[in-house]
Amino acid sequence: MSLFGTLRNTRNLVFGPGQRAAMPGYAAQLGRKALVVTDERLSAEADFRTLVDGLKKAGIETKVFDQTIAELPLDCINRALEAGSSFGADMVIGIGGGSCLDAAKVAALLLTHGGRASDYYGEFKVPGPVLPLILLPTTAGTGSEVTPVAVITDPDRAVKVGIASPHLICHTAICDPELTYSCPPGLTAVSGADALTHAIEAFTTIRRELSADLVHQHVFLGKNALSDHYALLAISNISASLKRSYDNGQDLEARQQLMFGATAAGLAFGVAGTAAAHAVQYPVGAMTHTAHGAGVAVMMPYVMEFNRNYCEQELAEIGQAMGLDLKGDSLEQQADATIDAVARLFADIGIPRTIADLGVAKDQLSQVAEQAMGSVRLIKNNPRPLDPASMAVLVEASFHGNRDALRADSRLRKAS
Ligand SMILES: NC(=O)c1ccc[n+]([C@@H]2O[C@H](COP(=O)([O-])OP(=O)(O)OC[C@H]3O[C@@H](n4cnc5c(N)ncnc54)[C@H](O)[C@@H]3O)[C@@H](O)[C@H]2O)c1
Ligand SMILES: [Fe+2]
Repeated sequence: MSLFGTLRNTRNLVFGPGQRAAMPGYAAQLGRKALVVTDERLSAEADFRTLVDGLKKAGIETKVFDQTIAELPLDCINRALEAGSSFGADMVIGIGGGSCLDAAKVAALLLTHGGRASDYYGEFKVPGPVLPLILLPTTAGTGSEVTPVAVITDPDRAVKVGIASPHLICHTAICDPELTYSCPPGLTAVSGADALTHAIEAFTTIRRELSADLVHQHVFLGKNALSDHYALLAISNISASLKRSYDNGQDLEARQQLMFGATAAGLAFGVAGTAAAHAVQYPVGAMTHTAHGAGVAVMMPYVMEFNRNYCEQELAEIGQAMGLDLKGDSLEQQADATIDAVARLFADIGIPRTIADLGVAKDQLSQVAEQAMGSVRLIKNNPRPLDPASMAVLVEASFHGNRDALRADSRLRKAS
């Protein structure tokens, strides 16, 4: 096997408590007029005002757009765009959860290239660099501060849509764990579970045949030596800190580790991609109006079971990164222990067990399966090839909470 790796990264990535104070210094290098994209919760906080004051002291004029809505409906992006264009912004600063960061990314795109968000849905549709972006996450988290994608709720589309382009990777990401201390347990759980799912899916995606233009064919190009490194870094940090952060939001060591892991997971999946757990979440989220992180986390143990014969070695390595005691176990037992540990961790932080618990009705299952298959960029990344019939098996099992059925199915496939 050839040693192959790709990273697509920000110009600057700064991590550490208190590092948000470094933001104005970066902004001063990039322009004079900053559109600051956030939401109403954050704009009311003293911390936020200190950040904006810091920009002013650095000689930067600011326009604050604080109407970002969670899960990012298209309408609020259009309003951010209006705010930025009437102001004449020459840079965009996003501060908040993934929704605010993605809003900032799309605003920077539309301020630069015009048109509508829908012109850029899919991969590689952004024609060139966008206004410089600085992103500061307040959840740990989506990893959006380092990824090449923004995810939008478009009322004309049944499920959420993505704009994926290396041009959307921000100029400077500043990850200050202090900004996450205010996350309540439920938000810590769903955003942290999303991050662990990013790392697990990135580590188990397909490894593509090398070709001269592989990196130009796919934004999310599959598992490779560099994405693996960040995925394992993410898995060890998140598995050690997620429950601790959920139990005690003031456990500062755990908060730091969790955010460190979430950003590492972004670096991993931003190049390798995610797969079936994310594909199924899109329709489930749209039908049940449940958080992205809850949906992907519900799916993750089922997807691991479904994929196990295509990534047993990787599942064992995930278990080792989680610190499980796997000595003397066969590869199969190691994979079993890993899937059980992920399911247990998610149960311990209050993630529901099935998509039925999220609110999916039995008569919606065929629609879930059909729409999940429509997320081509995710489906093509799954290590086990997916077709409508196998997707239906996966969705059915995640509805009934039947991981054993998937195991049996997976074994059958291996034998045949
Ligand atoms: N671009 C990417 O790479 C990427 C990856 C995964 C998910 N996403 C998208 O990101 C969004 C989810 O982002 P998220 O999970 O960060 O949540 P979010 O941004 O949707 O925020 C959810 C809620 O949490 C609040 N919140 C945020 N930070 C807080 C804090 N520190 N303290 C208290 N409350 C806080 C927000 O005000 C909001 O009400 C979804 O739209 C999802 O599709 C994007
Ligand atoms: Fe995600």
